Amino acid sequence: RANSAGIDLSQSAVRTRIARAVEALDAAGPIISAPLIGGIARLGGAARAGQELPVTSPVDRSRIVGTVLEATTEDIDAAFELAVAAQRIWDARGGKVRGAILRQMADALEADGDRFLALMAREAGKTLADGVAELREAADFCRYYAAQAEREFDAPVRLPGPAGETNHLGLKGRGVFVCISPWNFPLAIFTGQLAAALAAGNAVIAKPAEQTPLIAHEAARLFFEAGLPVDVLHILPGRGESVGASLTNDPRTAGVAFTGSTDVARMINRSLAARDCAIGPLIAETGGLNAMFVDTTALREQVVDDATLSAFGSAGQRCSALRILLVPEDNADATIKALAGAMDELAIGDPADPATDIGPVIDGEAREILLRHMERMEAQGTVIRHLDSGIWGETGCYFGPALVELPSVDLLEREVFGPILHVIRYKRNQLHDIAAALASKGYGLTLGIHSRLESFHREIQAAVPAGNVYVNRSMTGAVVGVQPFGGEGLSGTGPKAGGPHYLHRFAGERCVTVNI
Ligand code: NAD
Ligand code: ALA
Repeated sequence: RANSAGIDLSQSAVRTRIARAVEALDAAGPIISAPLIGGIARLGGAARAGQELPVTSPVDRSRIVGTVLEATTEDIDAAFELAVAAQRIWDARGGKVRGAILRQMADALEADGDRFLALMAREAGKTLADGVAELREAADFCRYYAAQAEREFDAPVRLPGPAGETNHLGLKGRGVFVCISPWNFPLAIFTGQLAAALAAGNAVIAKPAEQTPLIAHEAARLFFEAGLPVDVLHILPGRGESVGASLTNDPRTAGVAFTGSTDVARMINRSLAARDCAIGPLIAETGGLNAMFVDTTALREQVVDDATLSAFGSAGQRCSALRILLVPEDNADATIKALAGAMDELAIGDPADPATDIGPVIDGEAREILLRHMERMEAQGTVIRHLDSGIWGETGCYFGPALVELPSVDLLEREVFGPILHVIRYKRNQLHDIAAALASKGYGLTLGIHSRLESFHREIQAAVPAGNVYVNRSMTGAVVGVQPFGGEGLSGTGPKAGGPHYLHRFAGERCVTVNI
């Protein structure tokens, strides 16, 4: 089956339906979410030792969307006990059974789409268009990994051998996988990690991001409705430094799938290596300092459209987002002017309003980091545009898109996670040094190139590391099975989510030799 068709927001009946789902969510009041162990929410009453963490909406900081009860040490132990016991049975059920459940999950996600769009708008500040893309990606991950589980996990590969001997190489689950996800794709990455780990025959303990545990809780509920045995998946919400660190330090963890910042990936890598037990894999997908190189043959309107979408779409909160635009000096003024004009057309507002292009950033801390970065940029470069977030900034965590001209890539060392685009003009004889300077920063996630010359494409691709290269188009929104996604170096361990090699990282291999 092809990728998910999604939800058509151009239809007024669809928009009315979604508006009702948002109203229903708002009217329902705060959602309480607790560790989900063996399919049962551990609310635990007043005797519970864990902390209660409020989940506020980035759209309006005074609005409490829910409360999450943080997982305790006892919850972690209970989850491991059930998961370890359930994993072998789950693995033995085979790829076809697991695939069928994941397909049910994809259907269930699509059927419950309106509620997820409402929740993503309120809990994560996602615009409806971004929510639709995320819902599609989540369903696509389930179907893609289902197909691979069905195809590869019940069919050991026959290998050559001498007469009288058979050799078969098969795939199997590794054990209990810990899946740690970020807030910026609270549904797609959370679901994608789980779908991959489960498809490969692992039991899963998942720790969603602190900012978006409610979406994760709802998605987990759907996994069970789709037929997933309750002992195979456990959700332990809470803070990264407490719950997350306990899980990655635990010797019962057979492997970790992590998506988030490079710093935390490094921490997890160290804690996995320090354990006195079997060595498990870390599948890490992290940040990027992504550039788009433009030459004089590029079409200006296309550059402006693609740069605007890549830098400011999703309020710049995509790992794939464009951070540095390199424009040739000859026509830099015209490109920068056109970019600033395009920014003026962006509508900042309530993400649940279909007309909104730019919603809030995730929380007050994210906004503070962006404000501090802008202070530095004001001193080191020229601020061309910084859109005011208007009334939305008074109550919500809004940060208007900004365009800053800088004299050199040397002024940027780390990922800046928000709607700030840095533009640098270059002379042709500087191109090599700029590409080398970018490469030396160690990231390697996405790379954009705008040029009609294949020689320019080749030159840039050879000089700048990247897991995903986009030529003459925008550089966000990878599609499962079409643009397998993931980076190298500081941007991730590879292989790519939504690609043919991803599932193998979650699996062990066994070669069986029989002397007949
Ligand atoms: P983060 O690293 O702060 O948190 C990610 C997750 O790790 C959260 O669930 C958090 O609770 C947990 N965590 C934090 N400290 C931990 C610890 N010591 N031990 C175990 N777990 C811990 O990242 P974030 O702010 O949630 O997400 C944004 C980052 O994610 C950006 O850097 C972005 O580029 C990256 N990202 C990468 C991809 C990709 O595919 N490459 C996709 C989305 C986001
Ligand atoms: N996979 C996401 C994108 O391509 C992060 O934008």
